[in-house]
Amino acid sequence: MLSTRLAQIGLLLAAKAMTVAASKQCIDFDVLVPVVATNNNYTMPRVDNNIDAVQWALNFSVWDAPTPAERDTGFLPIKDTFNISAQLCVPSAKTDKSDILQIAVQGNAWDKRYWDVEVEPAEHSYVDAAIGKGYSILMFDRIGTGKSDIPDAYYVVQAATEVEILAQLTAMARNGTLLSSARIVPTTDNITVPELNPTHIVHVGHSFGSLLIAGLLTQHGDMSDAALLTGFLPSNTHLGQVPVAAFEHDFAPDHDPARFGQFSSGYIVLTSENTLQKVYFTQDTLEPELLTYTEKIKQPEAVALYASSGQAFSPPGPVFRGPVQLIAGEFDYVNCNGDCKGTYTEEGVKNSTFPEASNVTVYLQPNTGHALAVAKNASAGFEVMFSYLEAHDF
Ligand SMILES: *[C@@H]1O[C@H](CO)[C@@H](O)[C@H](O)[C@H]1NC(C)=O
Ligand SMILES: *[C@@H]1O[C@H](CO)[C@@H](O)[C@H](O)[C@H]1NC(C)=O
Ligand SMILES: *[C@@H]1O[C@H](CO)[C@@H](O)[C@H](O)[C@H]1NC(C)=O
Ligand SMILES: *[C@@H]1O[C@H](CO)[C@@H](O)[C@H](O)[C@H]1NC(C)=O
Ligand SMILES: *[C@@H]1O[C@H](CO)[C@@H](O)[C@H](O)[C@H]1NC(C)=O
Ligand SMILES: *[C@@H]1O[C@H](CO)[C@@H](O)[C@H](O)[C@H]1NC(C)=O
Ligand SMILES: *[C@@H]1O[C@H](CO)[C@@H](O)[C@H](O)[C@H]1NC(C)=O
Ligand SMILES: *[C@@H]1O[C@H](CO)[C@@H](O)[C@H](O)[C@H]1NC(C)=O
Repeated sequence: MLSTRLAQIGLLLAAKAMTVAASKQCIDFDVLVPVVATNNNYTMPRVDNNIDAVQWALNFSVWDAPTPAERDTGFLPIKDTFNISAQLCVPSAKTDKSDILQIAVQGNAWDKRYWDVEVEPAEHSYVDAAIGKGYSILMFDRIGTGKSDIPDAYYVVQAATEVEILAQLTAMARNGTLLSSARIVPTTDNITVPELNPTHIVHVGHSFGSLLIAGLLTQHGDMSDAALLTGFLPSNTHLGQVPVAAFEHDFAPDHDPARFGQFSSGYIVLTSENTLQKVYFTQDTLEPELLTYTEKIKQPEAVALYASSGQAFSPPGPVFRGPVQLIAGEFDYVNCNGDCKGTYTEEGVKNSTFPEASNVTVYLQPNTGHALAVAKNASAGFEVMFSYLEAHDF
C-alpha cells in the first residue's frame, strides 16, 4: 500500500520534471553577420594596463572632459563580417505565442547569459519566464563579449556597428535565413533545429542593449513590432550625473588573464563585487548569491562604447509606430543617480526618443537597481513586462 503510494508520488514527480524539462528547446549557434556602418574616430587615451584604465575613466569624467563631438576626428566606414554567438529557445510544443520572437540585447559588462540566470532560474531567468508565457526568444553575445568576435575596442566596437548587427540579425530572423546560414553548436547527440518563422518581433533590452534597441527603432523603425526596454530611462533629470570613473574599471587582460587573456588594448572590466553591487544592485533586493554570480559571469567592455552612444540616434530612418514599455529600477544608480522617482514624464520620454510610438509607458520596478534580472522579485517585474505585451496584443 505504502509502496504503491510512493510509486504514485514518484510518477507524479517524474511527470512534473518531464513537463518542466520538455517546456523549452534551445539551440546554440554561430552566425556570420555582414555589416555596413559608419563609426567615428574618437580621440581618447589608450588603455593597456590598470593605470591607463583609471586615467581613461578620469579623461571621460573630469569637469572639462571633451564631449563625444569634440573628440570626433572623422568618420570611420565599417564594412565587415562578424561571427556572432547566439542562442534560440522556443517552447517545446507550439503555443499561440510561439510565432512571436523576442530578441533580447543585454547591457555592457554582460553576455547573453544575463537573460538566463542560472541561480534560482524560476525567479531570475527571463528566458524561462518568456517560454512559460509561450514566446520564443533569441539572444546573442554582442561583439567584444562572450563567444562572439572581439574586434578593435577603439574603432570597431561602437554603437553604430552594434545597431547594424542587431538590424541584420533581426532581418535574418524575419526572413527565415538566420538558422539556415548558422553553424549549430552540438550540445547533445541529438539536436532538433526548431522552425523559426516569426510573425512578430519584440525587442527586449537591458541598459546599453536598450539603447541599441532605441537606435534600431530610430534608424529602422519598421523592423520591430514592440519593445520592452529595461535599465533605460532617457530624458530623466538625473541622467549623466554618475560619471564613468565612479564605476571602477581595470584593464581586462591584467584583471584576470585566465578569463580575459584573449582581450586586447582598450577592453576594460568592472573591478570587483563591490563595484558590481554599486552599479547593478540596491540594498533591499540584493541577494549575495546573485552578486557572486554576476562577478562570475561579468564581461569586458570596449572603451569606444562610452563615446559612441549618441550614434544610436543618427541617422533617423523609418518611423517606429509600435508600443514601448520602459522598465527602470526605482533605485537605478547608473541612470538616475540612485533614485528615478520624479525624474521624468512619460510625455518627455516619448517626445525625445519615440515620438510616433503608439504607446510609451514607463514603469518603475520597486526596490530594484540597474539590473532587473538579478534583483529579488525579478519574476514579478517580468510579469509586468508580459502584461504590457498582452495589453498590446502580443
Ligand atoms: C584616428 O585619428 C587619429 C588622429 O587624427 C589618427 O592618428 C588615426 O590614424 C585615426 N585612426 C583611424 C583608424 O583612422
Ligand atoms: C584626455 O585625452 C585626450 C586624448 O588623449 C587628451 O588630449 C586630453 O588632454 C585628455 N584630457 C584629460 C583631462 O585627461
Ligand atoms: C565562429 O566562431 C566559432 C568559435 O566561437 C568557430 O568555431 C567558428 O568556426 C567561427 N566561424 C567562422 C565561419 O569563422
Ligand atoms: C534576409 O536578410 C538578410 C539580412 O538583411 C539579407 O542579407 C538576405 O539577403 C535576406 N535573404 C532573403 C532570402 O530575403
Ligand atoms: C532524437 O530525436 C528524435 C526526434 O525528436 C527522436 O525521434 C529520436 O528518438 C531521438 N534519438 C535519440 C537517440 O535520442
Ligand atoms: C511633447 O510633444 C507634444 C506635441 O509636439 C507637445 O504638445 C508637448 O508639450 C510635448 N511635451 C513635452 C513634455 O515635451
Ligand atoms: C499605454 O499602454 C498602457 C498599458 O497597456 C495603458 O495603461 C495606457 O493607458 C496606454 N497609454 C495611452 C496614452 O494610451
Ligand atoms: C515586486 O514587483 C511587483 C511588480 O512590480 C510589485 O508590484 C511588488 O510590489 C514588488 N514587491 C516588492 C516587495 O518590492
